Amino acid sequence: MSTWLVTGGAGFIGSHLVEALLARGDSVRVLDDLSTGHRHNLPPGVTLIVGDVADPDAVGQAMQGVDGCFHLAAIASVEKGITDWLGTHRANLTGTITVFDAIRRQGGRIPVVYASSAAVYGDAASVPIGETEPCRPLSGYGADKYGCELHARVASHVHGIPTVGLRFFNVYGPRQDPKSPYSGVISIFCERIAAGMAITINGDGGQTRDFVYVADVVAALLAAMALRPADSPVFNVCTGRPTSVAALAALVADLAGRPLDARNGPPRAGEIRHSHGLPDRANAVLGLPDRVTLGDGLARVLHWMTEATR
Ligand SMILES: NC(=O)c1ccc[n+]([C@@H]2O[C@H](COP(=O)([O-])OP(=O)(O)OC[C@H]3O[C@@H](n4cnc5c(N)ncnc54)[C@H](O)[C@@H]3O)[C@@H](O)[C@H]2O)c1
Repeated sequence: MSTWLVTGGAGFIGSHLVEALLARGDSVRVLDDLSTGHRHNLPPGVTLIVGDVADPDAVGQAMQGVDGCFHLAAIASVEKGITDWLGTHRANLTGTITVFDAIRRQGGRIPVVYASSAAVYGDAASVPIGETEPCRPLSGYGADKYGCELHARVASHVHGIPTVGLRFFNVYGPRQDPKSPYSGVISIFCERIAAGMAITINGDGGQTRDFVYVADVVAALLAAMALRPADSPVFNVCTGRPTSVAALAALVADLAGRPLDARNGPPRAGEIRHSHGLPDRANAVLGLPDRVTLGDGLARVLHWMTEATR
């Protein structure tokens, strides 16, 4: 039986990972400050340490005796990165260095798989976006995620810590909080359309995104932990399939059996028009199976929302 530290394990993606680790009989410790995560996301049997990932003492204590660390704790919000630039930087980049440094201080080689983001690419010159595309982030959030990748190189090359970075595209699934101001478009559309409420589409709805189901993200995290590479690689975690926001709204309405009441609002300032990734490298190296289709994934979210409101 292995013991894993999952930072941010009480959050959306983290709690799905925790479930998968427990399901295979492993032991799980979670470090989370519960700023956006919730205790009730965690299944029984998990050790929760409530603490800050940028606090060296808390991370050092949480890291004791683990076989590996999945580092997901972050303020996962481009908007918060604008209004609280320094605060998000501390959680997102200082927090990541704190994780690597805790391992260095213990003199160990505990492997780390950490969450990066498609935000590292900024407005890429062409789609689909491969991992060799230049990183030109357009947000503090994206810049810090890129910083995490650069420090992961240092962790690996200078301190011998095996690291893998996963550039998640738009992740969706049950437990993504539609009430959070940082919530993804899918959880908001599903909640409102299923309740017969109107939705607002920013701009003309022609902007495209690569929506990846959370179970596929968990599969990528687990496969990445098995790699233990010496060259600190990064991989896209995406489907390679673009979906426009307008098409997404129509699909959700169809699946929910509701008429679509959509209004177009002003476009978001600085919003990237097209973003979808090239999954080939992750498929080849991580051996990932076919992704959950958008229709199946949305049906699961709608089902979860119905159950949750009963
Ligand atoms: N959801 C997506 O589409 C997406 C896309 C790209 C990257 N990511 C990354 O994946 C990771 C998980 O994101 P998520 O969608 O599950 O978000 P989430 O907000 O549900 O999870 C983040 C977790 O980190 C915790 N946290 C935040 N700051 C902390 C701190 N200083 N110390 C300890 N814990 C802290 C939160 O309480 C929460 O439980 C993040 O690193 C995020 O940047 C997510």
